[in-house]
Amino acid sequence: MNLTELTAPISNDMKAVDAVIRSRLDSEVVLIRTIGDYIVGAGGKRMRPAMVLMVARALGYQGEIHHLLAAVVEFIHTATLLHDDVVDESDMRRGRNTANAVFGNAASVLVGDYLYSRSFEMMVESNSMPAMAVLSSATTVIAEGEVLQLLNVHDPDVSLERYLQVVRYKTAKLFEAAAQVGAIVAGATPQQEEAAAAYGRHIGTAFQLIDDVLDYTGDVEALGKNVGDDLREGKPTMPLIRVMEIGTAEQKQLVQDAIRTGEADFAAVALAIHETQALDYTRQAAVAEAELARLALADYPVSVHLESLLEFCSFAVERDR
Ligand code: IPE
Ligand code: IPE
Ligand code: MG
Ligand code: MG
Repeated sequence: MNLTELTAPISNDMKAVDAVIRSRLDSEVVLIRTIGDYIVGAGGKRMRPAMVLMVARALGYQGEIHHLLAAVVEFIHTATLLHDDVVDESDMRRGRNTANAVFGNAASVLVGDYLYSRSFEMMVESNSMPAMAVLSSATTVIAEGEVLQLLNVHDPDVSLERYLQVVRYKTAKLFEAAAQVGAIVAGATPQQEEAAAAYGRHIGTAFQLIDDVLDYTGDVEALGKNVGDDLREGKPTMPLIRVMEIGTAEQKQLVQDAIRTGEADFAAVALAIHETQALDYTRQAAVAEAELARLALADYPVSVHLESLLEFCSFAVERDR
């Protein structure tokens, strides 16, 4: 199932969220509007807001506050992308040059800050203290994740545990918060809320593991961002950690040097990854996480929205974009 099919049952909700996003990007400061429109106009999969909506609907929610909170989640996500592309020195995102490449680092960082502040304003408007608590602490954790990752860069001794901590913090946490907020607005029981959070955590972990696979195998056109960036940045992701774990002494040395210097021969590293089946290994880890996500919703009432949430688990691992 592709994303359009997957979100068909919530297409009206998604349109409403898009309207909120566009109206809240409005600022009297022209550069904020320009950069905001630039990155939002490039699209994005909108998986996190979709998750807020689907969980809320799966639990029978009939109100409208979920539109605002879904937009908050997408704003937080967009802010992290603006900052992440500066830190990673990336020049392509969503099929376009990154905002930092076009408008510069300073403007990207400041507009990212603006989106965070805007999202906090909107959270307050939601009038839900529990939703605010979840989203504000998720924002803190994401920032911690990005800083932890910064410390891991160019360090070949990063363990699987340290890598997975970064994954949980920088990526899975926002998926967790999105699903949990969907449950909160719908007045979920504590069990349903925890199930949603676990679902988001696991699917978010699967999502980042696949992102790290796609950084080696992805198609630039489909992905809308460059591949090979992680290696160039000396990022020790699961595929490389796996080579260092089971590879020959030469393969280990090759990858260690690559991480340390960021100046590896991509083809040689790709070959080592291929020979150790490190991408399959990473994919399998993602499949296992997606399965845990599925299991987390075992007690949810059967509905078309539950089906979408379960389909999302497959999408997270089978995606090419
Ligand atoms: C990119 O997220 C950042 C990661 C957590 C890997 P997405 O792949 O959801 O980005 P967009 O919003 O669709 O561009
Ligand atoms: C995810 O990490 C970034 C955030 C969660 C902010 P990546 O650095 O792998 O994301 P991409 O590949 O740039 O989208
Ligand atoms: Mg990046
Ligand atoms: Mg990536």
